[in-house]
Amino acid sequence: MEHHPLINLAYVVAGILFILGLKGLTHPRTAVRGNLLGAIAMLIAIVATLCNNEVLGYKTIALGVIIGAVVGAVMAIKVQMTAMPQLVALFNGFGGGASVLVGYAALSKESPDGNFLIENIAIACSGLIGAVTFWGSLVAFGKLQELDFLKKPVRFSGQQWANLGLAALVILLGLSVAWFPNNFLFFLFLIAASLLGVTLVIPIGGADMPVVIALLNSYSGLAAAATGFVIDNNVLIIAGSLVGASGVILTRIMCKAMNRSLFNVLFGVLEATGEVAEADEVYAGKIKSTSAEEVAMLFDSAQRVVIVPGYGMAVAQAQHAVRELASELESRGVEVEFAIHPVAGRMPGHMNVLLAEAEVPYEKLKEMDEINPSFAQTDVVLVIGANDVVNPDARNNPSSPIAGMPILNVDQAKTVVVIKRSLSPGFAGIPNPLFAADNCLMYFGDGKQAALDLNRAILEG
Ligand code: TAP
Repeated sequence: MEHHPLINLAYVVAGILFILGLKGLTHPRTAVRGNLLGAIAMLIAIVATLCNNEVLGYKTIALGVIIGAVVGAVMAIKVQMTAMPQLVALFNGFGGGASVLVGYAALSKESPDGNFLIENIAIACSGLIGAVTFWGSLVAFGKLQELDFLKKPVRFSGQQWANLGLAALVILLGLSVAWFPNNFLFFLFLIAASLLGVTLVIPIGGADMPVVIALLNSYSGLAAAATGFVIDNNVLIIAGSLVGASGVILTRIMCKAMNRSLFNVLFGVLEATGEVAEADEVYAGKIKSTSAEEVAMLFDSAQRVVIVPGYGMAVAQAQHAVRELASELESRGVEVEFAIHPVAGRMPGHMNVLLAEAEVPYEKLKEMDEINPSFAQTDVVLVIGANDVVNPDARNNPSSPIAGMPILNVDQAKTVVVIKRSLSPGFAGIPNPLFAADNCLMYFGDGKQAALDLNRAILEG
């Protein structure tokens, strides 16, 4: 179908702005501008689409826009930073759900005697990816929200074969929808695809969730691109493909950071193998707790300190207190750097965002590969609310559930001080032998309070 040339021009402009926006998002310094460009592109795309003279029922659209805008804005304003991944999962899911609805609407609109094979294939793709994304994202949301019935990975023998069988059935039903389009087949197809969305995500647990979120993000883009083909909308195809491609790139980065293969992610077989040691076995009699005054004395004789933030820093909202602590140490001639693990926290870039908010200079943030060789020359490592990302079992114990996941080698420093409230495990739910190591001191307390107390002890000392 031909659009007015101006509408096509607006779509090209929006497409370019989307690409520039993504480029901006690759660096914290340009991220806000990138986000703004993306939002402007979306506005242009929506306005151009509404100018299309095929659009009917502006009242219904306005109602949808108002309800959507209010719900979206309230959720975005109210959400805690630590609950952001759940929100992203939910929004991914809504994108998938929208693709399913558009697919259904397009199918219902077809006249019975027309030949719509290509369009029907697009409708089937839109329905398939949309339904898998919608249900997969809802399960991911439940897991991240730590809903009781979803917390533990659901696994049974022959699960992979069952998933493969279900996937084959879904493809068969999808082809049937393309050749013999009717509502009954479409609903049957949707039920099977929805089931596949659920069964693909339920076996995945614990530390593997970031990969799944990135992948579902990519699926939601692919669903939107398929929908673009259904309704013949170029900007939807462009934007969907960009989300799909960037989601796949992010998935690869996450896979690398967690040492998982993409194949295993795609087939939902992220194994947590091996026996988990009992916490008592690991910790009994080996934990040394410390105080603010003692750590201040360590800092007194330190030349190089590395701060390792984790999820607990986000929970405690300790980033400002941590920045003040770093500045105080620097003013006393100590070299201070921050070590950032790619999956520290609960979303990609979580620590970068928090530290940028507290105005820690970007050049002080060092990525894992860059900082790892320097831990052996570090006097004090201050771990604040991080756990899994500094667990040496990932490196030393092949039967650990997180075996092979690259970690920050903080145990190689002269002294490690770990700030956390208790000996509770992190996201992966396993004990951390670092806490029992000879060179490790535990500072039990809330992250923010501990950082404030350390600062005070340094000033008084
Ligand atoms: P975790 O291993 O989850 O450990 C966080 C630690 O913070 C906990 O052991 C907790 O111990 C402590 N904590 C919580 N509240 C605190 C507070 N107020 N003050 C001080 N400490 C507090 O965190 P991590 O090392 O950042 O690792 C991230 C984990 O999440 C990885 O397993 C990763 O795979 C997973 N994950 C990451 C992402 C992304 S993309 N980043 C997304 C989903 C999951 P206490 O309760 O004893 O205080």
